[in-house]
Amino acid sequence: MNFFLKIFKLLPPELAHSISLNCLNIFYKLKILRLFFSKEDHDEKVTFLGMKFNNRLGTAAGLDKNGDYIDSLGALGFGFLEVGTVTPLPQSGNTKPRIFRNYDENSIVNRLGFNNKGVDYLVNNLKKRKYKGILGINIGANKNSNGADRINDYIVCLQKVSQYADYVTINISSPNTPNLRDLHNSENLSLLINAINKNVKDLGIVKPIFLKISPDESEETIDNIIKHIENSCFSGIIATNTTIDKSNVKNEKIKSIEGGLSGELLMEKSTRKLSYIRSISSEMPLIGVGGIFTKQDFDRKINAGASLVQVYTGFIVKGPDIINEILSS
Ligand SMILES: Cc1cc2nc3c(=O)[nH]c(=O)nc-3n(C[C@H](O)[C@H](O)[C@H](O)COP(=O)(O)O)c2cc1C
Repeated sequence: MNFFLKIFKLLPPELAHSISLNCLNIFYKLKILRLFFSKEDHDEKVTFLGMKFNNRLGTAAGLDKNGDYIDSLGALGFGFLEVGTVTPLPQSGNTKPRIFRNYDENSIVNRLGFNNKGVDYLVNNLKKRKYKGILGINIGANKNSNGADRINDYIVCLQKVSQYADYVTINISSPNTPNLRDLHNSENLSLLINAINKNVKDLGIVKPIFLKISPDESEETIDNIIKHIENSCFSGIIATNTTIDKSNVKNEKIKSIEGGLSGELLMEKSTRKLSYIRSISSEMPLIGVGGIFTKQDFDRKINAGASLVQVYTGFIVKGPDIINEILSS
């Protein structure tokens, strides 16, 4: 496995990403996944908001944006998967290069900009999946949608994906779609939540809905978000997405790159946000994400108030072995 990881590190990030996940699909289809990755039985079943999980560790959004790898990722031993972010229309995202690896500091900067094949492509994959575990679907807005159109993008995606999802994530926290993070502000959030409330009611959607937030918001904004969520159809919060704050990055080249920082350098910040939410709202259902590399990191998120934990950068850096490493007691 280490041999493969070393080869992939020499390739451009997006090429490495697609080759490694396509290999995973091939191994899965040939039924030889076990030759490469051992799957230990982690019997840590947990029920959360009525959903039954095999364990508390899942993939974070962005790893499988279009649902192309659901069955093979699901076979690795994750307790749940989150696919997306998907938008109503396909879009190519920002120009390349747009992913920058910072291996010395176990982190990544990305400015992908919601590149995805559109919600209809994802739905087609969702219909074909064999994976029976818990699946979250993360939805967003197209880059060129503004105002009411932007809110309508979430509604279009919600309507199309909800029947195939165990839970839905409303992503307002990507730093790479211009002005998307404005949706954290009270007035904008209120418009978004009201529109989602109405549609959830009209369509009779009974699936849990999460709001995925940025780690860069003030405590005042978080207080306000909590109030909005407590008075809505939303079930909980996913904390957090990537940060635009690169003050703790040592590598000067990476520090100056525009985009969202993930991985080890995000751990402190995202966990502090999680703890803060828990200190304000003792009952808020929380999913923790940001900087998970070890079992200790995982335990810190749980101790900070998360019921479930997601990983992205740690999986890219360490490969599938990270699952057994985190879940073995
Ligand atoms: C290359 C890349 C792409 C991402 N794409 C998305 C995305 O489409 N939607 C989303 O909600 N988060 C996305 N994220 C953020 C992750 O889901 C996660 O919140 C963040 O990376 C922190 O977790 P980590 O430190 O384990 O990577 C992306 C992260 C990376 C590194």
